[in-house]
Amino acid sequence: MSDAKKLFIKTYGCQMNVYDSERMAEAMSAEGYTLTDVAEDADMVLLNTCHIREKASEKLFSDLGRLRPLKDARPDLKIGVAGCVAQAEGAEIQRRMPLVDIVVGPQAYHRLPALARASGPQVDTEFPAEDKFDHLPERKALRGPTAFLTVQEGCDKFCAFCVVPYTRGAEVSRPVERILRETRDLVSRGVREITLLGQNVNGYHGEGPDGVWSLGRLIRALAEVDGLERIRYTTSHPNDMDDDLIAAHGDVPQLMPYLHLPVQSGSDRILRAMNRKHGRDDYFRVIDRIRKARPDILFSSDFIVGFPGETDADFADTLDLVRRVGFGQSYSFKYSARPGTPAAEKAPVAPAVADERLQILQALILEQQRAGQEAMVGREVTVLYEKPGRQPGQMVGKSDHLHAVHVNDAGGRVGELARVRVLASAANSLSAVRIS
Ligand code: SAH
Ligand code: SF4
Ligand code: F3S
Repeated sequence: MSDAKKLFIKTYGCQMNVYDSERMAEAMSAEGYTLTDVAEDADMVLLNTCHIREKASEKLFSDLGRLRPLKDARPDLKIGVAGCVAQAEGAEIQRRMPLVDIVVGPQAYHRLPALARASGPQVDTEFPAEDKFDHLPERKALRGPTAFLTVQEGCDKFCAFCVVPYTRGAEVSRPVERILRETRDLVSRGVREITLLGQNVNGYHGEGPDGVWSLGRLIRALAEVDGLERIRYTTSHPNDMDDDLIAAHGDVPQLMPYLHLPVQSGSDRILRAMNRKHGRDDYFRVIDRIRKARPDILFSSDFIVGFPGETDADFADTLDLVRRVGFGQSYSFKYSARPGTPAAEKAPVAPAVADERLQILQALILEQQRAGQEAMVGREVTVLYEKPGRQPGQMVGKSDHLHAVHVNDAGGRVGELARVRVLASAANSLSAVRIS
């Protein structure tokens, strides 16, 4: 009856990829594709990839291997590779895996519909002069009361280990007016919380009605949007926390008291080798200033262990930094040498040493996370309900401090902001009851 075609998308990597996947789904929906959760049913399979660590990249090739029987059975099945591996490897992907029809980079995906219509292998990894957002359909694919909104792309920081400046290109900020329009549109369709995204989001410097706006100014304008209850942003660089942004944490009630501020290492020597352009004391200072503006703020960070040249003393400095700051949550990774980055030229730390450090750091991070969650027990918090829980009469959402909370609330509705009392802390979430 209907000739609707089906699109299956798998998203790897960061939140910016999640946002891009939604926009690609919207672009393909204009071509008559609807989303499916089952790859076997799809007319097109799109893998939106991440290049940040070797493991992430290699996952693409194992997943492509698993698609081979599907493609053999149905040669008209279109297989597309998008995202950062597409950007980094380009046509090489098709040489290695000829079943791939389309390779499309993160700045060129507004052209995905045209690539899908064309026959034969297609590769588009340009950084086109036109802005892809001008060529994408309006937002449509909403999954609840929270939404991501990319405001800034790319990175000019060139940390010695990182592929992002190569896969995503130079820093570009979207104009203020477009962001406000997209926000109003999302809010009109039920969104209550927006997370502003950028690889370097606090480096935002977008064209405003009266010159260039900073992220702080953008956040203040978004706080005026009626019906938008919560604002978050990620990911930030410590060097770009300017006075106005820090002040906003104190005086914009919609700006939530949680900040992901990656530091990568606690050793000055390693921070220098990483080309982070700040020392550990700079990080402590910026943390102190933000805490002055918003005393109850929770911080999270990313850490890399086993960066080339990292000694036991360097690693001890990282543990010391973690203890001194006290994070609500953190992510830690074993260093992965990425082709084309300066650090990849250097002699690696022995894998067994890096493994051991990762375990020690992860144990400390977990201890802090548990303590932070325990400290919430007995307190009243606000939760934005995102979906019903697994148990009947239960709702699931996030607190202001980004804790996942399971709430006993038989009358709860998705999209509601509820006051709840925290009863207990589990491994990765809190349980609570609604306060009437
Ligand atoms: N823009 C963010 C992070 C982007 S990548 C920032 O500036 O901090 C997300 C995280 O992946 C990084 O914070 C870093 O901890 C980790 N990462 C990046 N490159 C890596 C590599 N080569 N090996 C291991 N971890 C890496
Ligand atoms: Fe990568 Fe972040 Fe450094 Fe940019 S600031 S190079 S995205 S780690
Ligand atoms: Fe990965 Fe690209 Fe994001 S490398 S972390 S998907 S910017």
